[in-house]
Amino acid sequence: MKTVSPSSDCPSRHLMPVTERPADIFVRGQGAWLWDGEGRRHLDWLQGWAVNALGHCPPQLSRALQVQAETLLTPSPALYNLPSLQLAQRLCALSGMQQAWFGSTGAEANEGAIKLARKWGRARRAGAWEIITFDNAFHGRNLATMAASGKPGWDAMFTPAMPGFAKARFNDLDAVRALIGERTVAVMLEPVQGEAGVRPADPQFLRQLRALCDAHGLLLIFDEVQTGCGRLGRMFGFEHYGVRPDIVTLGKGLGGGVPISAVLAADHACVFEPGDQGGTYAGNPLMAAASLAVLDVLAEPDFLAGVREQGARLGDGLRALSRRHGLGEVRGAGLLWALEMGTDLAPEVVRQARGRGLLINAARPHCLRFMPRLNGDAQEIDTGLALLDGALGAVLKSAARGASAVN
Ligand SMILES: Cc1ncc(COP(=O)(O)O)c(C=O)c1O
Repeated sequence: MKTVSPSSDCPSRHLMPVTERPADIFVRGQGAWLWDGEGRRHLDWLQGWAVNALGHCPPQLSRALQVQAETLLTPSPALYNLPSLQLAQRLCALSGMQQAWFGSTGAEANEGAIKLARKWGRARRAGAWEIITFDNAFHGRNLATMAASGKPGWDAMFTPAMPGFAKARFNDLDAVRALIGERTVAVMLEPVQGEAGVRPADPQFLRQLRALCDAHGLLLIFDEVQTGCGRLGRMFGFEHYGVRPDIVTLGKGLGGGVPISAVLAADHACVFEPGDQGGTYAGNPLMAAASLAVLDVLAEPDFLAGVREQGARLGDGLRALSRRHGLGEVRGAGLLWALEMGTDLAPEVVRQARGRGLLINAARPHCLRFMPRLNGDAQEIDTGLALLDGALGAVLKSAARGASAVN
C-alpha cells in the first residue's frame, strides 16, 4: 500500500483546523478494523462516532448503495422517490410515530424538530416557542442546536446565540418545573447524554417528565441521534424507559456510515405543511436505500439481543478494568459505554491506545467513551479490553512515576 502522510504527499494546511487530529491518514476500513496509510490496523471503537452500526463497509450497505447508485441518485426533493417512502413507512412502523422528515445530519434533524415544535406552538399553544433543554446536552453544531446544547462555553462562542432555549439541570424535575411558563412549548433531551460522557436519564425522571409535559400541554422531544437505531440494544433508546416522546430525532447509525437523519413525529405533532421544511438532499433515494439496508439487518430476529449480549460483556470487562486500575464509574447500555478515570488522563489513554492499535474517545478529559460496531463478537470485545488494559497500565504507571519524581 502506498504510504501517505499529511506532511508530504497531501498537506493538511488546506483543511480548516476545526478539530485536533492525529497525524495518520486513515485509508481503508473493514468491519471492526481501520487501516492507516502506513498499513497499521486499528481496532475501531469510534466507528465514525457511533455511526457505523454494522462496522466499516458492510457488504449489505455497499451493495444497496451500488444498486441505488445505478438506478436513481437524486430526482429532486420536490418529487417522490420509492426508497424514502419505504423508509418513512418502516420507521413509523418501528417507532409508532406517524410521519417522518429526512435530513442529512443529526443537527439538521434536531433543527427540524425545533421548527416543528415552534410551528406546533404557534398553531396549538398560543404562539409558545421556548424549549427547555439541559446542561451538558449535545444537539449539534448549527446555530439553533448549539443554542439548544448545554456544552459549557458554547453559549458565548458565536454570539448572538439563538434565543428560546431555557436550560434545566439534567435529571432534576423541579428545575424543569421552575422553567415552565406561557412561552414554553416543549422539553428536549437525550435519553442518554452521549457527548457528556454517556450519562443516562434517570428512569423515574423521564417518566415524571412525560407526565409533567402532559399536565402542561408540552411536547416531549427525544434526541436519539446517538442512542437510536440499536446503539443501546433496543431499536430506540426510549424503549428502555417505557416513555414515548412526541417527536424523536435519529441520525448517525440510521445510515450506518452515510449521511441521513430523520425527524419522526406522533400524529398530534404532525403540523408541517408545504414550504415549512426542506433541503436539496432531504430524503434522497441513495441515502434512504442505504438506511433501509441497515434497518434490514437491525431487524433480524437476534440482532438486538446480540448487541445487548456484547454490551454486557463490554460493561463487565470495563468494570473489571476499573477495579484493577483503581478507576471510577462505568456507565452504559448496549454498545455505548463510558469509564470514569478519576483524573484528567483520558486524552493520554486515547493516545496510548492508538499507539497500541485501539481507537477510542475521551468524551471529557476525565472520561473515556467506547462505541464499537453493533455486529461484533466476543473476541472483538476481549481484544479491545486487552488493548485498553495495556494502555491504562502504561499511562497510570507513567503518571505514578511522574508523581513520585515530583514528591
Ligand atoms: C445526541 C446528538 N445529537 C445531535 C448530534 C449531531 O449530529 P451531527 O454531527 O450528525 O450533526 C450528535 C452528534 O454527536 C449527538 O450525539
